[in-house]
Amino acid sequence: MKVKEIFNSDFAVYYEKVINRLSSPVQVNRWRRALIKGALSVIPHPRVVVDFCSGAGNMGELLLKERPELRVINCDISKPLLRLAKERLKERGSYVCSDNRFFPLKSSSVDLLFSSFCVRNSPEPKLTLLESLRVLRRGGLWVILDFFRPEKGDLYFKLNHYLFRSFMNLSRIATKSSEAIDYLFESIEKFFTMSEFTELLRENGFKILTSYEFMGGVAGGVIAIKEVKDV
Ligand SMILES: C[S@@+](CC[C@H](N)C(=O)[O-])C[C@H]1O[C@@H](n2cnc3c(N)ncnc32)[C@H](O)[C@@H]1O
Repeated sequence: MKVKEIFNSDFAVYYEKVINRLSSPVQVNRWRRALIKGALSVIPHPRVVVDFCSGAGNMGELLLKERPELRVINCDISKPLLRLAKERLKERGSYVCSDNRFFPLKSSSVDLLFSSFCVRNSPEPKLTLLESLRVLRRGGLWVILDFFRPEKGDLYFKLNHYLFRSFMNLSRIATKSSEAIDYLFESIEKFFTMSEFTELLRENGFKILTSYEFMGGVAGGVIAIKEVKDV
């Protein structure tokens, strides 16, 4: 099953209503909040905010708690998840079904671009990077959260990695789509390490402002600023 099919199948709603509901309060929302606070400390009052691969609007919901006056443009390939985002954010968002290789956005128009668990799911991650660069204005921020391919092997990482895999493997029991969990593990193995990804960002016109390690390196976050002139 392709990633687009996975996130348009029943698994998508299961992912949101079970996996996300269990993992977000315990861990992932802390990661999302850290990135949101980091980004707002650089651009306290962004005008145009996009959440690419928004899913059901988890990032948007937390951002709007900090800045209730904003509107968030939610883009995702999954109609079921965009529907959930709309139920959650209502008129405080707009909702566009789109592929993360072709952003339906004007060049140099975005102040803050969030991509949580997005680039790894792109069929062509480099294209997603170039589209992010294109749509951000100079000085705009790209805020990335993802499960990068592990590059650490210390005990703290190993323990956290074991917990992460066990949690995901447990969800095989409840979901009919064991394939989706296989896909998750495979996509991490094929993805960049954090060092590779930050290097690619630097080579393509971004400067890294902050990078974060979560659960001992099981997940990572990056806040990068578009340094080059508008493209
Ligand atoms: C793991 S979810 C993360 C959702 C959300 N960012 C969050 O933090 O909860 C990955 C999201 O990427 C979306 N996605 C996967 N492939 C995509 C693609 N090619 N273009 C756009 N969105 C895609 C999925 O539909 C899903 O909503």
